[in-house]
This record gives sequence, structure tokens and C-alpha cells, in this order.
Amino acid sequence: MLRFTLKNWGPTMAEPEYRPGLADVPVAESAISFIDGKRARLEYRGIAVETLAKESSFEETSWLLLKGELPTQKQLATFDSQLRVHRRLKYKIIDLIKCLPESGHPMDALQAGVAACGMFYPTKDRTDPEKNWEAVIRLIAKLPTIVAAFHRLRRGDEAIPPRDDLGHAANFYYMLTEEEPSPSITKVIDACLIVHAEHTMNASTFSSRVTGSTLANPFTVVNSAIGTLAGPLHGGANEEVLDMLEEIGTAEKAKGWLEDAVLHKKKIMGFGHRVYKVKDPRATVLQELAEHMFAETSKPEIYNLAVEIERIATGILGPKGIFPNVDFYSGIVYQSMGIPRDLFTPIFAISRVAGWTAHWLEQLKNNRIFRPEQIFVGKNDQPYTPLGKRP
Ligand code: CMC
Repeated sequence: MLRFTLKNWGPTMAEPEYRPGLADVPVAESAISFIDGKRARLEYRGIAVETLAKESSFEETSWLLLKGELPTQKQLATFDSQLRVHRRLKYKIIDLIKCLPESGHPMDALQAGVAACGMFYPTKDRTDPEKNWEAVIRLIAKLPTIVAAFHRLRRGDEAIPPRDDLGHAANFYYMLTEEEPSPSITKVIDACLIVHAEHTMNASTFSSRVTGSTLANPFTVVNSAIGTLAGPLHGGANEEVLDMLEEIGTAEKAKGWLEDAVLHKKKIMGFGHRVYKVKDPRATVLQELAEHMFAETSKPEIYNLAVEIERIATGILGPKGIFPNVDFYSGIVYQSMGIPRDLFTPIFAISRVAGWTAHWLEQLKNNRIFRPEQIFVGKNDQPYTPLGKRP
């Protein structure tokens, strides 16, 4: 198998092997995050994601991803207050969100809102670090407001303005529900935002780097990543996991359902990963969070069903290296907080925007437009038959 790196890749090389899905093909040098798929290890700038989920906040983790180091107390305080200042949306953007169809998916509404922001805050010069940083702050600050506003407005409620006295996670929950979350709910949301914030060269991050490499504006960069995240093989899987659990219904039906699915080569949603060949460490963190939440109440049936499915599916698919991924337990956690299913992927986006923008800034430091090759399998030198002579 031909292995190639960015350094030795060049026109003098033998024709490369085509790898569907770019599996194992490096597309950038990056210092932002690291995965060891055999050891269930995910690090952001060298720090284990489990540690960050326990000890850090989304704001601090975002800074770490963007800047490469943990912030000083002063840096974090300034960053946090900048995020709070930029949470508000212009009233015209709220008006625009009001006009969107209530039945539309919130991921599409998020793209519409982000595109509108790009029109209000146009930037042409990608070489100005201050302007780039301003765009990053606006994106991280405003995505939760767009998601919450669409959710409120589609139900006929007023959009709730952000509260400056609340942190990022608590404010998002408040804008959705008009209720201030308890410290334990706040911690769960914050930890969910942390574990979803970055994940090396996944499809949506690659999208952001490809769009960024054209020197497109940062709102467009994030919008292309949002569109990529929406698909059911990527961020959209967390919604599908709950659909699947509901379809299975009860623990007694789990074994038969899974065997039938495997027989018919149906994908088990929330299972499998290109890189992890063991249980995704983020799934472990989210399961711990779920256990922690349910310790105060009784465990919902759907959680017990998921645990049973994990047990049986691991027996069937584990030998192929297929285990629960981040999406397997996240939906159960969100659902238990009363968050509607179609907001699961938008919540993924309001977290992953930190990773996308970190990759955008990294891409700009040493940019070259992405222009990969194809292996042409079509026809050459075909005659043109005029329309009148065609049947
Ligand atoms: N259930 C059953 N079989 C599976 C699954 C699954 N979830 N995932 C992979 N396989 C099998 C697949 O059928 C194939 O078998 P065979 O070699 O016999 O044809 C083999 O494993 C390789 O699968 P693949 O689809 O070629 O693997 P990939 O690396 O291209 O895809 C994946 C990775 C995540 C898209 C895939 O595992 C999948 O579709 N999982 C279900 C959707 C899902 O949960 N997505 C969330 C991913 S994690 C969060 C994120 O990154 O957004």
C-alpha cells in the first residue's frame, strides 16, 4: 500500500492509490487535536478530553483550541466578556429567522442565520489577525443565539435575548427554555459542549479547511462546515440514534433487531468510527454524564435500552472494531433535559464551531488552496450529435 506524506507528495511520485473517503490520507499538518483510535485517547492541544470535560469550561476549552495554550486568568476573563458582548443578534437577523418555515430543520435555519451574519459583518482581508479574531468571537458567541431564537420563534414564542450574567452553557439553556439551569444541568451542557468541540480531520472540519483555503469569509467557512455536519453519517447520527432506539422499543427486542440489522447490512446508528476501533472516549464521558444525571432520578427506559444495545451490539460488531461513538449517548442526555431531537445536531455545531474556527486560523497561517486530483474514469474524444439528430 502506498503511503505518502505532505512532504514527499509531488508530481514525481508514482500515481497514488485512490482511497475512497480519503481514508488515511493526510490533508493538513495540524497541532490542534490528536486521536489514538486504539487507546481511546482524544487530546485537545495535548490535554485529555476527559480531563477538560471534568475540569474546564467551554469558554476555556475554546481558547485552548484557538490559541494553543490554556488562557491566563486575565485572558479568559477578557475572552469570556467578549463572547458575552457579541451574543446578541441584530433585529433584522431575528426578523429573517421569523420568516423561516417552522417545519424547517434548525440546521438549515442555523445556516441561514450564519449567512446573514456574514452579510452584516463582511470582511475581505484574511491577513488581519484582529479582524479574524473578531469573526471567531462573533461566530462562537452568536451560534447559540441563532439556534435558540429559531426554536422559540418556530413555536410562536418570542426570542429570548441573551443574559450577560450567565456563562455560555447556562445562557444557551436559558435562551431555549426561559429558565436558568441548575448548576448540575449547566455542568452537563458545558461538558457536552467540551467533548464535541474538536475532533481532528473529520468531514465538517475538512469542509471548513477547504472553504477557508479559498480565502472565503469566515461565516461562509463555518456555513460549509455546518452543512457537512448535518448529514446522518456525521453529526446527524445523534438524532437517528433516538429514532432507532424508539423503533427497537424494548430490551427484549434488541437482540433480534440487531441480528436482523447486521444480516441486512444496516448501519447501527451511533456505532462505528473511521479512527476509533475501541469505544469512543467521548461516548464514555457522555455515558458517565448520563449516569450522573440519572443518579438523582430514576434511569429512563431509553437509557437502559441503549445500555443493552451496547452490550449486544458490542458482542456482534466489537470483533470488527465497531463500538459506540460520541452520538450514541449524547441524544439521551439532551432528551432527558427536555431538548427536542432536531436541536441535537445544532448543539453539536455550536460546540464544534470552536474546532472549525481553530482549523480555519491554522489553515490561514500556511494556506494553499485545496485542489486534489481525481482518477478519470469517463470517456474521451466523444463526437457531438446535434439535438435534431438525436432520438
Ligand atoms: N453498524 C454496522 N456496521 C458498521 C457500522 C455500524 N454503525 N459502521 C461500520 N460498519 C461496518 C460497515 O458495514 C463495513 O462493513 P464491511 O467491511 O463488511 O462492508 C465496515 O464496518 C466499514 O464501514 P464503513 O462505513 O466503510 O466505515 P467508515 O470508516 O467509512 O465509516 C462511519 C465510519 C462513522 C461513517 C460508520 O461507522 C457509520 O456509518 N456509522 C453509523 C453512523 C454514525 O454513528 N455516525 C457518527 C460518527 S461519530 C460522530 C461524527 O464524527 O460525526
